[in-house]
Amino acid sequence: MGWILTNKDYNKSDNKHYEGAYAQGNGYLNLRATFDEDLSEASQDDVYWRLPANVTLEKQRHPLSKWGTYIPGIYGNHPILGEEIINLPYALGMNMIYEDERFDMNQSMYTDFERKLNLRNGSLERKFHWSINNNVIKVNVQRYCSMAIKNMIVQRTEITSEKDGILEISHFIDTGVTTNGYNHFNKIDLDEEEFSAYLITDTNQEVGLCVDISISQGTMLENRIHKVENRIYQHGSLDLKANEKVIIEKRIYYATSIDDEYCGDIGKHLQNNINIGDSHNEFEKHNRIWAEKWEKSDIEIGGNEKLQKAVRFSIYHLLRSVNEKDHVAIDAKAYAGEAYYGHYFWDTEVYLLPFFIYTQPEYAKKLIRYRYNTLKGAKENAKRYGYNGAKFSWESCISGKEQCSNWQYADLEVHVTADVIYGLLHYCKNMNDQEFLLNEGLEMLMETARYWMERVYEEEGTYHLRGVMGPDEYLPFTNNNTFTNYMVRFTLQATIDTIAFADEKNKTLLRKLNITEDEVLKIKDIVQNMVLLIDDKKGFINQCENFSNFEDIDMDKIWTDKSRPFGQFISQERNYRSKALKQADVIALLYLFRKDFNNTMKKHCMDYYEPLTTHDSSLSYIFHALVYSDLSDSENAYDMFAKSIGIDMEEKGAAEGIHIANCGGIWQGLIMGFGGMKNSFESDQLSLSPRLPKEIEYMSFKIFYKGYWYRIYCDHKKTLVKKVD
Ligand code: BGC
Repeated sequence: MGWILTNKDYNKSDNKHYEGAYAQGNGYLNLRATFDEDLSEASQDDVYWRLPANVTLEKQRHPLSKWGTYIPGIYGNHPILGEEIINLPYALGMNMIYEDERFDMNQSMYTDFERKLNLRNGSLERKFHWSINNNVIKVNVQRYCSMAIKNMIVQRTEITSEKDGILEISHFIDTGVTTNGYNHFNKIDLDEEEFSAYLITDTNQEVGLCVDISISQGTMLENRIHKVENRIYQHGSLDLKANEKVIIEKRIYYATSIDDEYCGDIGKHLQNNINIGDSHNEFEKHNRIWAEKWEKSDIEIGGNEKLQKAVRFSIYHLLRSVNEKDHVAIDAKAYAGEAYYGHYFWDTEVYLLPFFIYTQPEYAKKLIRYRYNTLKGAKENAKRYGYNGAKFSWESCISGKEQCSNWQYADLEVHVTADVIYGLLHYCKNMNDQEFLLNEGLEMLMETARYWMERVYEEEGTYHLRGVMGPDEYLPFTNNNTFTNYMVRFTLQATIDTIAFADEKNKTLLRKLNITEDEVLKIKDIVQNMVLLIDDKKGFINQCENFSNFEDIDMDKIWTDKSRPFGQFISQERNYRSKALKQADVIALLYLFRKDFNNTMKKHCMDYYEPLTTHDSSLSYIFHALVYSDLSDSENAYDMFAKSIGIDMEEKGAAEGIHIANCGGIWQGLIMGFGGMKNSFESDQLSLSPRLPKEIEYMSFKIFYKGYWYRIYCDHKKTLVKKVD
């Protein structure tokens, strides 16, 4: 129960949501759940520009459909957007023509439509009964991205006709798909070999790509291949006999010159290595790998099937989008769309990483290594602004150099540099990975500390961070944003501690990084004298200097339709000078350092900031849910949690991809919030104090905590913890 997502209506208005929500992936290839046949009215090369007038909001792209095939790491250079993920040529294509009509979801007559995503193994199924010229043709298409062979997608089509007839099949690769309207390829060669059609090209970053399609099983098609403009087709005629099922199994391979030695010969290479006769075994292998992942990461929820599905939906997307390689991370849309251009944000360390640290630690390390691998880019960033050290990018990509095309975030949202270190430390704490901490970790700590030493401003013995944007992106240019200052101070303290630790363990590590005594003294001074606008007496935290001077705003008057973001109802200029918050800022601080603040402080801040918060960012609700949980306010906690769950589910918000940070947040909401688990900064031993809301009867899950695996069961009366293998 709670594993299958089903959609039984096809609507032009929400089709794109399902394409994103039901996206598939195997940690390498990622696919939007588009139809294999052409869909009329859905051009695949529309140009999209993010409008600078209101930069925080995503504008609608083509509303109907967008093919999407993404391989993390395959980026192209865009003149304005920088390194942009490339939407690769579409190879799933398969058209069916019966008595001169091509099947089309927007034009044809059909009944019994259903599409389903099985979260357990990422397999997608679509069924429909096509009524045509007194005949009914039943079609069932299943597709999966193989977990066992990362380059491969298998698409199996079963066709049963009520009457005898001839069905023309044309399957194809289409190279006309662009990324946000931009073509990242140099030249594309389409060709054929034996029974396969293939494409070879290279991107404008000179990465080779090869795509190969062939019919591998079931009814073979004749070898009629032809090319038209952007396409290469293989055609065949099926002689349908009444009520006899015909099966066509298509295999699709993608390979690149950076990931595969055999790029250029991918189809042949893999076909030779796979026992094509044994599709079933291969699918079993794929299922086994998925089962192993779920065994560690599933959360079983008692008494709430809807919630169970939503939770598994989040975990599924986390599991399918994390990569085996460490030169990439998980982009803001989990490779299920082109919004945010495939870039990586603070989302990685603050929202996604805890899920991996506590349930898939080997992937957590890859995500941390990704940041280490981009340290060179981060150093170039710092230099570009005239500082020493390393400044991690607000929008990062393969090189680590800043990719954000809007100055507000690129220049001012500096907290990401400290967030990256928070993530690194979180990982090292739970894994006790001293080796990594003392080597790569120390270098990251020291280089970012060098940046902060110059980025802070010293005034009368105190240190300030002027001109910053905190997590709340509706106040772009503030001084002493408490979230940022606190986070920076925390990472600088960790730098001092790690230097001391290295001094004990191996002094050469310090020499390697040329760490001087003066630097250590300076860092200590900043830690001691960093301005923090925290009023312990009143029990209140100011978001930034003079927050109260920003204008009060009559939100209800301006925000006349709450189903759309507040930011769409106000000019950016007005928004920037008002008190309206985009997302959790002080509230994020209260969660990330929750043991540092008492309940009075939490309550006062929540009462003040929440009514000012628009939650226009999907990253907002869940941190509110977490702080309400801490306050044992389970009603408000669940209300916020339910809103968070709703983003990609009820609200159908996945058209441009998954809100993956929110998915990671949902995991934290359940485990750290309702489960009351202390994180590794907070406790040396696994410690839980469940406070389940009434909507959840029980939870059962596995956790990796400081070297051991535990199975945990909790309900409203008891908590059972067992060490397991
Ligand atoms: C949020 C950021 C977030 C980004 C990517 C923005 O809308 O304000 O906090 O990092 O989306 O998810």
